[in-house]
Amino acid sequence: MSTTGLGFSGEVADFYARFRPGYPPQVIDALVHKLGLTSEHRVLDLGCGTGQLAVPMSEHVAQVIAVDPEPDMLAHGPELPNVEWRLGSDADVPELGRFDAVVVGQALHWMDHGKLFREADTAKFAIIANGTPLWRQHPAIREVLEDWFGRPMTAGCGTDDEARRRYANALEAAGFTPHEWTIGHTHEHTIEELAGSLFSAMSPETLPSPQDRPLFQDQLRTALRADTYTEPITVTVISTL
Ligand SMILES: C[S@@+](CC[C@H](N)C(=O)[O-])C[C@H]1O[C@@H](n2cnc3c(N)ncnc32)[C@H](O)[C@@H]1O
Repeated sequence: MSTTGLGFSGEVADFYARFRPGYPPQVIDALVHKLGLTSEHRVLDLGCGTGQLAVPMSEHVAQVIAVDPEPDMLAHGPELPNVEWRLGSDADVPELGRFDAVVVGQALHWMDHGKLFREADTAKFAIIANGTPLWRQHPAIREVLEDWFGRPMTAGCGTDDEARRRYANALEAAGFTPHEWTIGHTHEHTIEELAGSLFSAMSPETLPSPQDRPLFQDQLRTALRADTYTEPITVTVISTL
């Protein structure tokens, strides 16, 4: 087993579990349909985090193996009869056996994706981007973060067109036939929830201290001139036929 936790520890994991929008039922239903999954199938959710995909997918399949290198993320995974939470990373996949499908939500940018596509024992993949990072959605959110941290906010976290093209090309090179599809929806955040969602994308060292968090929230409220933020989310999926 290898573990390479990348900062999703402690409070960041708590913020992730509480405030990150998961995937609405229409996304889970489409994934199950596109991957041809039934109650007989075994699925790997790689980079499962706190279970955003593993939990709803477990209602449709026989078993989900949910793998993540960060124990604090796994600790939020609810106990379910057909979900096995495992500490590990993409490097461990060849040892995990055969899967009917491998799903990766918002996590492929930390993995050796070419190796994963070549070496995983599976007939199908789905690579899922849960919208775009908040700082890429709204200039006011980006400005608050850039003022707070004193640096430009540029990370795309594997959600941009260029990253998706690379993933599709690598799937093709590994012998799969990828195709991309999208489902749009919205998620309304209070300012507290919006701050929590932003905190879930920080590292424990860069999190505003508890006493600074009300100031951070005030800055968001002032910049957005509102008490809520409606996040436009386009879930983009590359799945294989
Ligand atoms: C942004 S979260 C995604 C969680 C969830 N899949 C989702 O869609 O919201 C990324 C997760 O990938 C995990 N991760 C980082 N490097 C990894 C690796 N090499 N192999 C597997 N998971 C990894 C992190 O620990 C984190 O929990």
